[in-house]
Amino acid sequence: MPQLLKVRNLQTQFFARDSIVKAVDGVSFDLNEGETLALVGESGCGKSVTAMSILRLIPNPPGKIVGGEIFFQGRDLLKISEDEVRDIRGNDIAMVFQEPMTSLNPSLTIGRQISEPMEVHKGITLKKGLLRAKDLLGKVNIAAPERRIHDYPHQFSGGMRQRAMIAMGLGCNPKLIIADEPTTALDVTVQAQLLELMKNLTREYGTALILITHNLGVVARYADRVNVMYAGRIVEKGTAHEIYDDPRHPYTIGLLKSVPQLDQDVKTRLVPVRGQPPDLSKVPEGCAFYPRCDFATERCRKESPVLETVSGNHEKACWIDVK
Ligand SMILES: Nc1ncnc2c1ncn2[C@@H]1O[C@H](COP(=O)(O)OP(=O)(O)OP(=O)(O)O)[C@@H](O)[C@H]1O
Ligand SMILES: [Mg+2]
Repeated sequence: MPQLLKVRNLQTQFFARDSIVKAVDGVSFDLNEGETLALVGESGCGKSVTAMSILRLIPNPPGKIVGGEIFFQGRDLLKISEDEVRDIRGNDIAMVFQEPMTSLNPSLTIGRQISEPMEVHKGITLKKGLLRAKDLLGKVNIAAPERRIHDYPHQFSGGMRQRAMIAMGLGCNPKLIIADEPTTALDVTVQAQLLELMKNLTREYGTALILITHNLGVVARYADRVNVMYAGRIVEKGTAHEIYDDPRHPYTIGLLKSVPQLDQDVKTRLVPVRGQPPDLSKVPEGCAFYPRCDFATERCRKESPVLETVSGNHEKACWIDVK
């Protein structure tokens, strides 16, 4: 499969009067056409900032991409003009946001909102756009789409708004969809249905997908690859199979025990990862996970581990050989 996205040593920071938040601190990963990648980690580890950096949507000030490269179809997105980026956003790369109520315009009908990116990027008329919006709403399993395109966002339920966002994302036939926690506000069954739907649609259209989530359990069966993030870095990455069946970083192991899995026995006890993630404006030296790690040694306190190969494309950043 041809390569679609290649991120190298991405560094994004936020500048306050007396501190620098290293939100993304040297992140590298690849994604091939049609693949699904899960970006997983606790709140504040830099998942959304990674996504916003790819779309060049980091608010400046206070934020800035201070280093790295983001190749999309071979072009470095950090080197092209603002006009060129605008042409890619919502067109070749679509984003489905965390909270659809804040990203949908309350005063425009769903149909018009689905039509708009197609009018802007593909130059089609509103009339054609509405026809396609109707088809897309049908694709995301919304009943009576010919009627529903005339509804306003508040007339849709939370799950339906998510579906409308997905329809909007698909409008221009993107090469890549970035779905930032598309499902947290919804119950587990609806989450599973939505992921199933997205997975089927990406298969049908050959679209690559980056799924951003806290829940390592839920993405298991949808992702081809998984990147586990901690404190602005990727601490383990591999195929979904490697991450679920052979996790090697103590944080990944902790995360797997802390999240409900779809097919898990309801009686299985969930154990949260103890402690709190560090403040990204003062990450201590050594391994950022050190204070929370059951396996930590003196070396972990002093030296920051880098990603090393476990086998094939499976990599972990940890000094300890945990199995
Ligand atoms: N606009 C901003 N101004 C200042 N700091 C920011 C801004 N956006 C993000 N940050 C900081 O960057 C870090 C990473 O945030 P990010 O939103 O990427 O986390 P996340 O992994 O997406 O978390 P969540 O799961 O809660 O969405 C956090 O420390 C956050 O406070
Ligand atoms: Mg986020």
